[in-house]
Amino acid sequence: MKEFSEISTWLSSRGAVHAIPVVETLPQPTFRMNDQNFVSFSTNNYLGLAQHPRMIDKAREGLERYGVGNCESRLLGGDLDIYDQLESKLARLKKKDTALLFATGYLTNLGALSALVKAGQTARIYGYRAKKRHSYAFFSDEYNHISIREGIRLSDADRQTYRHRDLGHLENLLKESTASSKIIVTDGVFSQDGDIAPLPEMLDLAERFDAMVYVDDAHGTGVLGANGGGTTEYFGLDHPRLICMGTLSKAYGAIGGFVATDRHIGDLLRLTCPAYGFTSTLPPDQVYAVSEAIDIVAEEPERRQRLWENQRYFVRSMSRLSYKLLSTSTPIVPILVGDEGATDVLSERLRKERIHVDSVKFPAVPRKQARLRVILNAGHTRRQIDKLVWVLGEYERSSFFPAPSLSAVA
Ligand SMILES: Cc1ncc(COP(=O)(O)O)c(C=O)c1O
Repeated sequence: MKEFSEISTWLSSRGAVHAIPVVETLPQPTFRMNDQNFVSFSTNNYLGLAQHPRMIDKAREGLERYGVGNCESRLLGGDLDIYDQLESKLARLKKKDTALLFATGYLTNLGALSALVKAGQTARIYGYRAKKRHSYAFFSDEYNHISIREGIRLSDADRQTYRHRDLGHLENLLKESTASSKIIVTDGVFSQDGDIAPLPEMLDLAERFDAMVYVDDAHGTGVLGANGGGTTEYFGLDHPRLICMGTLSKAYGAIGGFVATDRHIGDLLRLTCPAYGFTSTLPPDQVYAVSEAIDIVAEEPERRQRLWENQRYFVRSMSRLSYKLLSTSTPIVPILVGDEGATDVLSERLRKERIHVDSVKFPAVPRKQARLRVILNAGHTRRQIDKLVWVLGEYERSSFFPAPSLSAVA
């Protein structure tokens, strides 16, 4: 057992194990840490819904009606009608037949991706014999979220990784594959890069190669599209080959995940996905809150309007500086710094001005692609954005700031 202390000591000596900052309040987008006020430019609470009075009232209603938790699994006594109602609402939002709730977004990807390709195996327990042998392969963008990569790994199916948003590479891999069932998997909005998956073109490929497209829309849901329906609504897509995954922990300000899909896949996952049926799910107060969040996003479009105005203002202001923005198409606007030490120095410089921006480094992103992951928020004021840009400008003028070698992508 000595290896654990050996590994941990080694990692600490390389600076890989470090203290995680403890905060006293949650960003909305200002928060308190070490008795001081900070403004966060890295919160997923895009619309400030986590503290919305309607959400809190609804959560309280759920608490008073049901208590603090659901101590049963869905399949064994814990299947409240409010879960079905929320699932129907999420299915409508994503224009699919049905949806399944999971305790978190991470668990959704682990559960759905690993179980999907094992449906036939599970059906054998009931005596099912396939007319022909099925073989499965996943085709996954290299920058997909770790929960996707872990879910695919757990599936034991063949897995191919294509270069980020590279449709030519994806096409070649699809062409070479002999799998009878192919599933393309992509983030809708990439969490560390902020760019959007080219879903229409991916669906064209899916048609040609008889594949499904599984979209993890953790950062698109509630943010993109006329009703906050996410990346699929943004592109106006309503396609039978789409499987839509989302989280409830970002724009919707609560916790949980879901997968919205056609009736057959939904029925199969309900029966065969242990992460859905054999674990406790969202506490009822969270179900109440999320259901309210979906309504608030539709009824208070001014929140998303402010978010996008802030995004455009920041991008415009940054165009006067020479930083490279990795993407400008969503509220995630990462500033590519490249060097990891320089990213930390810059992040620390911002912290001194009471601004928090996540410094994202290897292994979350490839080496030499360290970045400050700026996420705009509906609650940011112009003064807060001006200050962020001013500090960045000051740093640029006062230091030798090596231009990263990567070319920026819009
Ligand atoms: C793209 C993506 N998928 C899934 C998740 C996991 O979601 P959750 O935090 O709700 O478990 C995240 C969280 O950061 C994410 O960014």
